[in-house]
Amino acid sequence: MEFFEAVSARHSTRDYSAEPVSEASLKKILGAACAAPIGMGRYDALHLSVVSTPSGAAALHARMNALFPQDPLYNAPVFILVSSADSPMAGQNAACIIENVLLAAAAEGLSGCYIAGAIPKIAEDRALVRELGVPEGFRPVAGVLVGHPRNKKELGLRRPPALEKIRMTRL
Ligand SMILES: Cc1cc2nc3c(=O)[nH]c(=O)nc-3n(C[C@H](O)[C@H](O)[C@H](O)COP(=O)(O)O)c2cc1C
Repeated sequence: MEFFEAVSARHSTRDYSAEPVSEASLKKILGAACAAPIGMGRYDALHLSVVSTPSGAAALHARMNALFPQDPLYNAPVFILVSSADSPMAGQNAACIIENVLLAAAAEGLSGCYIAGAIPKIAEDRALVRELGVPEGFRPVAGVLVGHPRNKKELGLRRPPALEKIRMTRL
Protein backbone atom coordinates (compact mmCIF):
# COMPACT_ATOMS: atom_id res chain seq x y z
CA MET A 1 0.00 0.00 0.00
CA GLU A 2 1.26 3.45 -0.88
CA PHE A 3 2.23 5.66 2.12
CA PHE A 4 -0.65 8.17 1.92
CA GLU A 5 -3.15 5.33 1.46
CA ALA A 6 -1.87 3.77 4.69
CA VAL A 7 -2.17 7.14 6.45
CA SER A 8 -5.79 7.44 5.27
CA ALA A 9 -6.60 3.81 6.15
CA ARG A 10 -5.21 3.92 9.71
CA HIS A 11 -7.90 4.11 12.35
CA SER A 12 -8.43 2.75 15.85
CA THR A 13 -10.04 -0.69 16.07
CA ARG A 14 -11.62 -1.91 19.29
CA ASP A 15 -13.13 -5.20 18.10
CA TYR A 16 -10.85 -7.88 16.63
CA SER A 17 -11.49 -11.22 14.94
CA ALA A 18 -9.69 -14.32 16.23
CA GLU A 19 -7.60 -14.50 13.02
CA PRO A 20 -3.92 -14.38 13.96
CA VAL A 21 -1.48 -11.86 12.48
CA SER A 22 0.92 -13.65 10.14
CA GLU A 23 4.57 -13.87 11.13
CA ALA A 24 5.49 -12.12 7.84
CA SER A 25 3.27 -9.12 8.68
CA LEU A 26 4.45 -9.07 12.29
CA LYS A 27 8.09 -8.98 11.20
CA LYS A 28 7.39 -5.99 8.92
CA ILE A 29 5.51 -4.23 11.72
CA LEU A 30 8.30 -4.85 14.25
CA GLY A 31 10.80 -3.61 11.66
CA ALA A 32 8.77 -0.42 11.36
CA ALA A 33 8.79 -0.10 15.17
CA CYS A 34 12.57 -0.37 15.20
CA ALA A 35 12.86 2.21 12.39
CA ALA A 36 11.21 4.89 14.55
CA PRO A 37 13.16 8.03 15.39
CA ILE A 38 14.31 7.98 19.03
CA GLY A 39 15.59 10.92 21.07
CA MET A 40 19.39 11.13 20.95
CA GLY A 41 19.38 7.74 19.20
CA ARG A 42 19.03 5.96 22.57
CA TYR A 43 17.49 2.75 21.20
CA ASP A 44 19.09 0.92 24.14
CA ALA A 45 16.80 2.82 26.53
CA LEU A 46 13.71 1.14 25.05
CA HIS A 47 12.20 -2.33 25.21
CA LEU A 48 9.30 -3.96 23.36
CA SER A 49 7.24 -6.78 24.87
CA VAL A 50 5.58 -8.50 21.92
CA VAL A 51 2.63 -10.71 22.85
CA SER A 52 1.58 -12.49 19.67
CA THR A 53 1.22 -16.23 20.29
CA PRO A 54 -2.38 -17.42 20.80
CA SER A 55 -1.50 -18.80 24.25
CA GLY A 56 0.38 -15.63 25.25
CA ALA A 57 -2.48 -13.40 24.10
CA ALA A 58 -5.10 -15.57 25.84
CA ALA A 59 -3.14 -15.42 29.12
CA LEU A 60 -2.71 -11.65 28.81
CA HIS A 61 -6.41 -11.04 28.14
CA ALA A 62 -7.34 -13.24 31.11
CA ARG A 63 -5.06 -11.05 33.28
CA MET A 64 -6.68 -7.90 31.84
CA ASN A 65 -10.15 -9.22 32.61
CA ALA A 66 -9.03 -9.80 36.21
CA LEU A 67 -7.47 -6.32 36.51
CA PHE A 68 -10.16 -4.25 34.75
CA PRO A 69 -13.97 -4.31 34.49
CA GLN A 70 -13.51 -4.83 30.71
CA ASP A 71 -10.43 -5.93 28.75
CA PRO A 72 -8.80 -2.60 27.76
CA LEU A 73 -6.83 -4.50 25.09
CA TYR A 74 -10.04 -5.52 23.31
CA ASN A 75 -8.97 -9.17 23.00
CA ALA A 76 -6.53 -8.21 20.21
CA PRO A 77 -4.26 -11.01 18.94
CA VAL A 78 -1.14 -8.82 19.17
CA PHE A 79 -0.12 -6.44 21.95
CA ILE A 80 3.18 -4.58 21.93
CA LEU A 81 4.16 -2.88 25.17
CA VAL A 82 6.77 -0.13 24.92
CA SER A 83 8.89 0.26 28.05
CA SER A 84 11.63 2.75 28.70
CA ALA A 85 14.52 3.40 31.01
CA ASP A 86 14.17 6.63 32.97
CA SER A 87 14.11 9.37 30.31
CA PRO A 88 12.31 12.67 29.88
CA MET A 89 11.66 11.57 26.28
CA ALA A 90 10.06 8.21 27.13
CA GLY A 91 6.57 9.26 26.06
CA GLN A 92 7.67 10.88 22.83
CA ASN A 93 9.82 7.87 21.91
CA ALA A 94 6.94 5.46 22.57
CA ALA A 95 4.61 7.58 20.45
CA CYS A 96 7.03 7.50 17.50
CA ILE A 97 7.30 3.71 17.75
CA ILE A 98 3.56 3.27 18.05
CA GLU A 99 2.67 5.47 15.09
CA ASN A 100 5.12 3.49 12.94
CA VAL A 101 3.45 0.27 14.12
CA LEU A 102 -0.04 1.61 13.34
CA LEU A 103 0.93 2.78 9.85
CA ALA A 104 2.76 -0.47 9.08
CA ALA A 105 -0.30 -2.43 10.27
CA ALA A 106 -2.55 -0.37 7.98
CA ALA A 107 -0.16 -0.99 5.07
CA GLU A 108 -0.46 -4.73 5.79
CA GLY A 109 -4.28 -4.62 5.68
CA LEU A 110 -4.50 -4.82 9.47
CA SER A 111 -5.69 -2.41 12.09
CA GLY A 112 -4.67 -1.42 15.60
CA CYS A 113 -5.10 0.92 18.50
CA TYR A 114 -2.82 3.05 20.66
CA ILE A 115 -3.14 2.04 24.32
CA ALA A 116 -2.37 4.51 27.08
CA GLY A 117 -5.26 4.31 29.56
CA ALA A 118 -4.47 0.82 30.87
CA ILE A 119 -0.72 1.30 31.19
CA PRO A 120 -0.45 2.71 34.75
CA LYS A 121 -2.38 -0.27 36.14
CA ILE A 122 -0.35 -2.74 34.08
CA ALA A 123 2.85 -1.06 35.31
CA GLU A 124 1.74 -1.46 38.93
CA ASP A 125 1.45 -5.24 38.53
CA ARG A 126 5.08 -6.19 39.17
CA ALA A 127 4.53 -9.91 38.43
CA LEU A 128 2.92 -9.08 35.05
CA VAL A 129 5.68 -6.61 34.19
CA ARG A 130 8.28 -9.33 34.93
CA GLU A 131 6.37 -11.86 32.81
CA LEU A 132 6.32 -9.34 29.96
CA GLY A 133 10.13 -9.33 30.08
CA VAL A 134 10.44 -5.65 30.94
CA PRO A 135 14.09 -5.17 31.95
CA GLU A 136 14.99 -4.12 35.48
CA GLY A 137 14.92 -0.32 35.76
CA PHE A 138 12.53 0.08 32.81
CA ARG A 139 8.88 1.05 33.11
CA PRO A 140 5.94 0.47 30.76
CA VAL A 141 5.10 3.70 28.90
CA ALA A 142 2.48 2.89 26.25
CA GLY A 143 1.17 0.04 24.17
CA VAL A 144 -0.30 -0.75 20.80
CA LEU A 145 -2.66 -3.43 19.51
CA VAL A 146 -2.61 -5.06 16.09
CA GLY A 147 -5.08 -7.43 14.51
CA HIS A 148 -7.79 -8.04 11.95
CA PRO A 149 -10.91 -6.00 12.67
CA ARG A 150 -13.98 -8.18 13.19
CA ASN A 151 -15.87 -5.86 10.84
CA LYS A 152 -13.97 -6.21 7.55
CA LYS A 153 -15.73 -3.08 6.24
CA GLU A 154 -13.44 -1.07 8.53
CA LEU A 155 -10.52 -1.90 6.24
CA GLY A 156 -12.22 -0.22 3.29
CA LEU A 157 -12.49 3.05 5.18
CA ARG A 158 -10.30 5.74 3.70
CA ARG A 159 -10.23 9.09 5.39
CA PRO A 160 -8.61 11.66 3.15
CA PRO A 161 -6.45 14.09 5.13
CA ALA A 162 -8.65 16.85 6.60
CA LEU A 163 -6.49 19.92 7.01
CA GLU A 164 -9.00 21.56 9.36
CA LYS A 165 -8.91 18.68 11.87
CA ILE A 166 -6.09 20.25 13.89
CA ARG A 167 -6.06 24.01 14.38
CA MET A 168 -3.14 25.54 12.50
CA THR A 169 -1.40 28.84 12.20
CA ARG A 170 0.34 29.08 8.84
CA LEU A 171 2.89 31.82 8.38
C1 LIG B 1 -1.65 9.10 23.15
C2 LIG B 1 -2.85 8.27 22.78
C3 LIG B 1 -3.43 7.48 23.74
C4 LIG B 1 -4.53 6.65 23.40
N1 LIG B 1 -5.02 5.78 24.33
C5 LIG B 1 -6.05 4.98 24.01
C6 LIG B 1 -6.52 3.99 24.93
O1 LIG B 1 -6.00 3.82 26.02
N2 LIG B 1 -7.56 3.22 24.55
C7 LIG B 1 -8.17 3.36 23.33
O2 LIG B 1 -9.13 2.63 23.05
N3 LIG B 1 -7.75 4.28 22.42
C8 LIG B 1 -6.69 5.07 22.72
N4 LIG B 1 -6.21 5.98 21.80
C9 LIG B 1 -6.83 6.06 20.46
C10 LIG B 1 -7.57 7.40 20.24
O3 LIG B 1 -8.76 7.41 20.99
C11 LIG B 1 -7.83 7.58 18.73
O4 LIG B 1 -6.61 7.56 18.04
C12 LIG B 1 -8.56 8.88 18.40
O5 LIG B 1 -9.85 8.88 18.98
C13 LIG B 1 -8.69 9.13 16.90
O6 LIG B 1 -9.35 8.05 16.27
P1 LIG B 1 -8.66 7.20 15.10
O7 LIG B 1 -7.40 6.58 15.68
O8 LIG B 1 -9.66 6.16 14.72
O9 LIG B 1 -8.31 8.13 13.99
C14 LIG B 1 -5.09 6.73 22.09
C15 LIG B 1 -4.47 7.55 21.14
C16 LIG B 1 -3.35 8.27 21.46
C17 LIG B 1 -2.65 9.07 20.39
